[in-house]
Amino acid sequence: MTNPDARKVLITGAGGMLGTDLVTVLNPHFEVGGLEKRPVVHLCVPYDICDLTQPRKTRDAILSHRPHVVIHTAALTDVDYCEDHHDEAEELNVGATKNVVDVCNELDIPVIFFSTDYVFDGSKKEPYTETDVPCPINFYGQTKLDAERYILAHAQRAIIFRITWLYGVWGRSFPKAILRQAAELKTLSVVNDQVGRPTYTWDVAQSLLTVLRDKRECVEARSREIFNLGNEGTVHWADFARFILKSENLNGIKVKDIPTSQLKRPAPRPLNSVLSLDKAREVLGLQLRPWDEAVKEFLPRWKEVKEVEEQKAKAQAAEKENIA
Ligand SMILES: NC(=O)c1ccc[n+]([C@@H]2O[C@H](COP(=O)([O-])OP(=O)(O)OC[C@H]3O[C@@H](n4cnc5c(N)ncnc54)[C@H](OP(=O)(O)O)[C@@H]3O)[C@@H](O)[C@H]2O)c1
Repeated sequence: MTNPDARKVLITGAGGMLGTDLVTVLNPHFEVGGLEKRPVVHLCVPYDICDLTQPRKTRDAILSHRPHVVIHTAALTDVDYCEDHHDEAEELNVGATKNVVDVCNELDIPVIFFSTDYVFDGSKKEPYTETDVPCPINFYGQTKLDAERYILAHAQRAIIFRITWLYGVWGRSFPKAILRQAAELKTLSVVNDQVGRPTYTWDVAQSLLTVLRDKRECVEARSREIFNLGNEGTVHWADFARFILKSENLNGIKVKDIPTSQLKRPAPRPLNSVLSLDKAREVLGLQLRPWDEAVKEFLPRWKEVKEVEEQKAKAQAAEKENIA
C-alpha cells in the first residue's frame, strides 16, 4: 500500500547504470517512480516509457507522477558517440534537461542533475573546485556544461552533482571492460597519464539518500548549487586496471602503460579528472569511502547480478523457443 505522506522521487534514466542503483537505494525510503526510454527488465518500481527529448510527453509523464523531487540522470553518456553525433547529444543532454527543468519549475519542485568532470580541460595541476572556470575539450563535456548553464540560469531549485569515472553493476563501465579483455588477452594496454577518482554508483546513490533524508533544506532551497562528488583517493587508469586484476587473482595478465596520445579515440579526454570533494563534505556532510574499498564490494555484487541476468536471458530464450 502506498503511504500518502511519503515523499515522491521521480528518477529519469531509471534503468541506467546510476539510475538503477538510485532506484534500489531510495525505494525503501521514498515513493520512487521512474522514467525510461524503453522497457527495462530489472526495474523494481513503477516506471513510464517516455522520450525526454519530447517536451509535451515529458511534461505529461512528470505531471502524472506528481513528484516532490526529480533526479535527472538520463543522458547520452557514450563520449565518443557524442563526438560524432552532435545533434543527438545536444537533443538529449541539453534539450531533455531543459524539458525536465521547465516542468520542475512549473511544479515548483527541485531537480537534481548529474554533470561531469569533462566540463574541464584537465590542464589544472590540483583538484578542480566547483568555482573553477569550465572549458570542455569534447562535445559530451560541452553538452553537459550547456545543461548546467541552463539549470543555473533558469531552475528555481536545483542541485548539480559533478561526478567522475563512474562505474556500476548495470551497463558499460571500465572494470567490466578490463575483465572482458582479460578473458581474451595476456597483456592489456591502458593509459597511465589520466588521473581520476573511480566512483561507484552505489555510493553516489547512498549519498543521494543522505541528502534527500537529512539535508532536505538544501534540496528544497530556492537556489542552484554545484557540488563535486566522488569516492576518496586518486589513481590513473593503468593502476586502476592492475587493482581490478589483482582483486580477481588474475596475476598472469599484464598491464602495459601507454600514453593517451597513443589511443586514437574520437573524443579527447582531460588528463586531470580529479575533483575537489571539500564542498560536499563541508556543506552536505558527504564523504564517500576510498575508491579501492568500493571496487572490492562492486566485484562480487556484479558477478551476482551477471549470473541472475544470464539465467533470465536463458529462461527468456527457452520460452521464445517453446512459443515458436
Ligand atoms: N558514466 C560516467 O562515467 C559518468 C561520469 C560523470 C557523469 N555522468 C553522468 O551521470 C548520469 C548517469 O550516467 P550513467 O552512466 O548511469 O548513464 P547511462 O547508464 O547511460 O543511463 C542513461 C539512461 O538514460 C536513458 N535515456 C537515453 N535516451 C533517453 C531519452 N531520449 N529519453 C529518456 N531516457 C533516455 C538511457 O536509456 P537507454 O539505455 O534505453 O538508451 C539510460 O537508461 C548522466 O547524466 C551522465 O552524464 C556519468
